[in-house]
Amino acid sequence: MLSYQHHYHAGNPADVHKHALLAWMLGYLTAKDKPLSYIETHAGRGLYDLRDPAALRTGEAASGIGRLEPRLPADHPYRRCLDAARAAHGPSAYPGSPLIATQMLRPSDRLHLAELHPGEHARLTETLAAASATIRRQDGFDMALSLCPPSPRRGMVFSDPSYEVKDEYDTIPATLGQLARKWNVGVLVLWYPILADNRHRPMLDRLVHLFPAGLRHEVGFAPVRAGHRMTGSGLFVVNPPYGLAAEAARIAATVFGAQG
Ligand SMILES: C[S@@+](CC[C@H](N)C(=O)[O-])C[C@H]1O[C@@H](n2cnc3c(N)ncnc32)[C@H](O)[C@@H]1O
Repeated sequence: MLSYQHHYHAGNPADVHKHALLAWMLGYLTAKDKPLSYIETHAGRGLYDLRDPAALRTGEAASGIGRLEPRLPADHPYRRCLDAARAAHGPSAYPGSPLIATQMLRPSDRLHLAELHPGEHARLTETLAAASATIRRQDGFDMALSLCPPSPRRGMVFSDPSYEVKDEYDTIPATLGQLARKWNVGVLVLWYPILADNRHRPMLDRLVHLFPAGLRHEVGFAPVRAGHRMTGSGLFVVNPPYGLAAEAARIAATVFGAQG
């Protein structure tokens, strides 16, 4: 039984980190005139209203996008995604990763999205009704494994699990290993939380061991409220696009610098 719902957390500092770098990677990949596949394993509902009582109750968006957006570089593709979401859906709209992907991808690209929660799946299907995305209510890693290697053969798997199932930290490295064997040129992106109790560490150690050339990027921030266990946001990228390390360093310095 899934209980996590991202609308309590949308636009928090971790979303700013993952969405800024996702938008940059998609900008980089679409600069080349060749179609690509975008596969997202844990899609969420795609569009959030930051005036929703759930978002207001946690206050996470206020300490995330509310505080950090002014620090984003003026020319950043994530800024354009935020502006486009607000233009289409109103001033308190916040784009989730599937909406960012549909905004950045071209008609020749293929989108495959998985979302297991029935309510979130229904909202996602509604939000992306006009987009040509294939949306499945299925385990996301099962979907990715069944699609890889995808056609078109260039592209990305983006994984943003909620880590609410206990063994996810244990199983993810082997799953990424399987995906990399099936699709050795795919960009594989995994988001993970930096937790005060270091629960993410063994997973990370295994990822670094399996993918010594992978890019690991982390930013730290103050807990969004007293007692919150997340003290930072991490991305692990297999086959990182050229320039990602420099871009990640730029975002860390300009957007998160003051928080170290
Ligand atoms: C962190 S949220 C995704 C947020 C989204 N990536 C974004 O940035 O806008 C994680 C989502 O994964 C869904 N989920 C949990 N387990 C899943 C699974 N095994 N397969 C697919 N979706 C799953 C949850 O219902 C939740 O909506």
